[in-house]
Amino acid sequence: MEDFLSPLPISIALLSILLSFLLYRWLRFRLPPGPTPWPVVGNLYQIKPVRFRCFAEWAGAYGPIFSVWFGTTLNVVVSSSELAREVLKEKDQALADRPRNRAAARFSRDGKDLIWADYGPHYVKVRKVCNLELFSPKRLEALRPIREDEVTAMVESIFKHCTQPGKSGKSLVVRDHISGVAFNNITRLAFGKRFVNSEGVMDEQGMEFKAIVANGLKFGASLSLGEYVNWLKWMYPIDEEAFAKHGARRDRLTKAIMDEHTRSRKESGARQHFVDALLTLQEKYDLSEDTIIGLLWDMITAGMDTTVITVEWAMAELVKNPRVQKKVQEEMDRVIGKDRIMTEADFPNLPYLQCVVKESLRLHPPTPLMLPHKATANVKLGGYDIPRGSIVHVNVWAIARDPQVWKNPLEFRPERFEEEDIDIKGHDYRVLPFGAGRRVCPGAQLGINLVQSMLGHLLHHFDWDLPEGAKPEEIDMSENPGMVTFMHTPLQAIATPRLPSQLYHRVAVDV
Ligand code: HEM
Repeated sequence: MEDFLSPLPISIALLSILLSFLLYRWLRFRLPPGPTPWPVVGNLYQIKPVRFRCFAEWAGAYGPIFSVWFGTTLNVVVSSSELAREVLKEKDQALADRPRNRAAARFSRDGKDLIWADYGPHYVKVRKVCNLELFSPKRLEALRPIREDEVTAMVESIFKHCTQPGKSGKSLVVRDHISGVAFNNITRLAFGKRFVNSEGVMDEQGMEFKAIVANGLKFGASLSLGEYVNWLKWMYPIDEEAFAKHGARRDRLTKAIMDEHTRSRKESGARQHFVDALLTLQEKYDLSEDTIIGLLWDMITAGMDTTVITVEWAMAELVKNPRVQKKVQEEMDRVIGKDRIMTEADFPNLPYLQCVVKESLRLHPPTPLMLPHKATANVKLGGYDIPRGSIVHVNVWAIARDPQVWKNPLEFRPERFEEEDIDIKGHDYRVLPFGAGRRVCPGAQLGINLVQSMLGHLLHHFDWDLPEGAKPEEIDMSENPGMVTFMHTPLQAIATPRLPSQLYHRVAVDV
């Protein structure tokens, strides 16, 4: 009797009950097939670094819906347009939460922002602020001068670079010139600040901002087994102090900028930037300071790299495909001519340019697995059981290259969007660079405008060629690992001006 009450048998009994319960729970479910998981680590060490390519290969072996275990967490990957519709439309409500690893939880103060918020009253409220206020067509239009200013600054920087003595006919790194546009555009849009002066020198606040962004990326990337195996978390503690320091630093900078806006609003009224909009709407929507700060930083994280990545891939395709490049330029010369620069008002008259943007986003979606969704209830997908708490990924990269729905899917042929009117903002499940459904990207139109404007200016102002002696097939079209897909090797190309030299100056505006 005494033996029976000793701690060891009690622990063994409890453990067996727990294991039987877990086994019973899992056996009840008919899970999607997938690679055999190892105990504890699951499939973690079988996943290759460029995840969406690895998942596309696995879809070939296991089918358009498969299971992959990240430690003890079930992840389900879907890779067909029918299943994407099921996830993002039919079962959308039960799959609209977000899984937060420990870094995301710290950054977002447990989902007080938008990106990492679970689907619920807070999310619905904040999403309404985005849809009705931040990304309304009126505000998008009011912020247009910022975008147009920044693209002309990009044109000027490329012109200066390629007309320097000794630089003519030499290639440049395209990303060096396009990332500045995205950076300045997003800081002006969100914070109403251009941290970089006309000589390209960044002020102190800008340096601090850049350091915070870089630090955030470092934290976000440091993933350990502790993220995936709940009961191993204690073995992989995170550096709480470093996270707290980072959070405090981010808050300090954001609050300083918010205070500056509050002061200037009193003197000269509200402006259109997100920070002004959110402070003005704070009472109406009952937004906490954490939510305002979280939203502002969401825009930075989600809106900066995605546009750079899209433009760089599009340029790679255009350098590889001189026929398409020439066709866009012919359209631009016809519509705009050679003695003025493009504006966003020209977009409706440039349908081929729009098709090029769509085709680039089809082949190179910057977030190829979208952002992860989490099941809030047991759901069925493709006839399989997806238990509550599972993480669901849609491989939009694989879907957009599926030969069952696309003719010659790997060919870069913008004409396919001329032949058929295909939406890319979440209504056609064959091409979903912005996702679809409740969590569809709220910045989609803004992103498209900026990408179209950057690409239009790059092509109207310059001819683009491969570096001397390089062949089209030698361009490295592979991706970097990560949640977003930068080109593995930054694109290099030769830019040659094609318009009168007076059209290469920045047209600065103060909005
Ligand atoms: C080419 C540019 C862009 C692409 C391809 C893109 C793509 C995406 C995708 C795939 C998602 C996830 C959808 C889902 O989980 O179902 C997303 C979410 C989001 N994007 Fe974008 N995005 C772009 C530009 C932007 C811009 C410019 C902003 C804002 C300035 C932005 C803000 C957001 C936010 C806040 C979310 C989270 C939405 C939520 O969780 O409800 N994005 N984006």
